[in-house]
Amino acid sequence: MARDTWFETVAIAQQRAKKRLPKSAYSSLISASEKGVTVSDNVESFAELGFAPHVIGATEKRDQATTVMGQDISLPVIISPTGVQAVHPEGEVAVARAAAARGTAMGLSSFASKPMEDVTAVNDKIFFQIYWLGSRDDILARMERARAAGAKGLILTTDWSFSHGRDWGSPKIPEQMDLKTILKMSPEVITKPRWFFSFAKQLRPPDLRVPNQGRRGEAGPTFFQAYGEWMGTPPPTWEDVAWLREQWGGPFLLKGTVRVDDAKRAVDAGVSAITVSNHGGNNIDGTPAAIRCLPAIADAVGDQVEVLLDGGIRRGSDVVKAVALGARAVMIGRAYLWGLAAEGQAGVENVLDILRGGIDSALMGLGKSSIHELTRDDILVPEGFTRTLGA
Ligand SMILES: Cc1cc2nc3c(=O)[nH]c(=O)nc-3n(C[C@H](O)[C@H](O)[C@H](O)COP(=O)(O)O)c2cc1C
Repeated sequence: MARDTWFETVAIAQQRAKKRLPKSAYSSLISASEKGVTVSDNVESFAELGFAPHVIGATEKRDQATTVMGQDISLPVIISPTGVQAVHPEGEVAVARAAAARGTAMGLSSFASKPMEDVTAVNDKIFFQIYWLGSRDDILARMERARAAGAKGLILTTDWSFSHGRDWGSPKIPEQMDLKTILKMSPEVITKPRWFFSFAKQLRPPDLRVPNQGRRGEAGPTFFQAYGEWMGTPPPTWEDVAWLREQWGGPFLLKGTVRVDDAKRAVDAGVSAITVSNHGGNNIDGTPAAIRCLPAIADAVGDQVEVLLDGGIRRGSDVVKAVALGARAVMIGRAYLWGLAAEGQAGVENVLDILRGGIDSALMGLGKSSIHELTRDDILVPEGFTRTLGA
């Protein structure tokens, strides 16, 4: 009998990913820094927000379509760039296909395991994500490669402070996945035969190179070579942000804003969008949940740039809460990574379907015919919930 691959919640996708992956691969998806205060707050803060549904007044049809950075999307959810998709042999290509099948856009990490050209070939709504790594010329070369590959927007991620050390232990990421490493990992891998054989079928071990940090057609540096170069690169200034935005000339998103003053400076630098984000709890631990920081930022700059949110989205109702509090759309990270690890492309489609279904239920309960009708009054926000940083 065929294995039942469908799952009904993101929590179940997570359990399946945990069961399926070797321990170190699973823990690289959990990531987060230090004690994990921020990553927990990202998720748990959504449960502090409530709804007051109507008993009568639901509309027959409910619309979720919107646009982000000029791209039509069929639900207010896009794929956030993440760099560890080598947990599945098809990695970013499977995610891009799933996003295209469900009518949405994808941020592609510069630390992705697949060349950007393979990803843009299966989804024409790709935003390429850049870290400030190497010289301005290196960054320009990467940006031009993305333009030539057909990327529709650029994402600049600057909220990474090289924190390492987690109370639950960091995963050991090997430099290369050669036979020696696989044999060393064998006690972990032997108990996960389905994961091992998904790679063995392709006669190719997981790719630990980052092809988008190199030139088109080349394998690119190893993850650690690229990471070392990144650590050695002087961090960017606001002038650098404005310069890169100017060089790109198209839709440009600055990822990782939690402060009102930074959001205003991003507007001054000419960006088209920002995402209120703490890198999924991977920046400084103790940063408040992204959703707590959203309302103040949306009030300050929401009429000048597109304001997105990422961090902690696990349900469609979370998306509705974020949109009601001022986000145009949300980006998801771990939710789709768990879907990918559990069931490949179908798992990512499953996650997007769960979110779409949850958004639809919440709209129905609230008596709204569209996500565009949502307002703050639709959400019960407890006193002291929000944080206004840098105002
Ligand atoms: C395993 C992992 C890898 C990530 N890699 C990147 C990356 O390469 N570039 C980037 O801009 N953000 C990266 N992020 C952050 C995500 O884009 C996003 O901000 C975060 O995952 C959102 O929180 P969520 O996982 O709770 O949805 C990563 C996050 C995780 C969990």
